[in-house]
Amino acid sequence: MTGLSHGVLISGPAGVGKTSLIDELRPIASSSGGWFVSGKYDQHRRDLEFDGARQAIRAVGRLLLAEPEDEVAEVRARLLHALGRNAGLLAAVQPEFGVLMGVAPDASIGDSLFAQARMQRIGVDVLAAVASPKRPIVMFIDDLQWASRTPLGFLDMLVSEGPPRDCCWSWRIGTTRSTRRTRSPR
Ligand SMILES: Nc1ncnc2c1ncn2[C@@H]1O[C@H](COP(=O)(O)OP(=O)(O)OP(=O)(O)O)[C@@H](O)[C@H]1O
Ligand SMILES: [Mg+2]
Repeated sequence: MTGLSHGVLISGPAGVGKTSLIDELRPIASSSGGWFVSGKYDQHRRDLEFDGARQAIRAVGRLLLAEPEDEVAEVRARLLHALGRNAGLLAAVQPEFGVLMGVAPDASIGDSLFAQARMQRIGVDVLAAVASPKRPIVMFIDDLQWASRTPLGFLDMLVSEGPPRDCCWSWRIGTTRSTRRTRSPR
């Protein structure tokens, strides 16, 4: 969690142990004061509740709501500063953050493509505002092979932007099934 890498993609055949491997990181992240948040995509469900990236960001909101008020106050200020006009959209899509920030949901979301682009920006800004050297965040998104292009764009943005220059405190992990078959030895 302190290296220079921002993200890692674990790829392998079905059932090889990708999810189990990453789950081993849960206690390691917790023992160093970090948060391990996760989400997964579903082969048969493409609706928002089954959006793995959204589940992981929602998990961050829920963990924040369980924090003591003095901790929350600091994060609230960082979130409001980072999100600006997007705070209302986040409150509309993820009510936990509306409660946390004391912001009313913004019903004027705009057309869906524009809203999706704003949501990607929001996801990146939330992680940057909440994670800190004291509270590193490991975000794990499982079964990326079922994700549509939009969440993949979000993950691409997360990995390519990385954390602010002065610290390396968060990590993104994804798993995807490999589709290529390995040739059996002769
Ligand atoms: N190191 C291990 N030793 C023994 N069993 C393991 C090990 N790792 C995983 N397993 C078992 O193998 C099975 C598949 O593991 P897992 O679900 O992690 O695979 P996966 O690669 O994530 O599969 P999928 O592509 O379907 O998501 C599970 O029952 C798990 O308990
Ligand atoms: Mg798996």
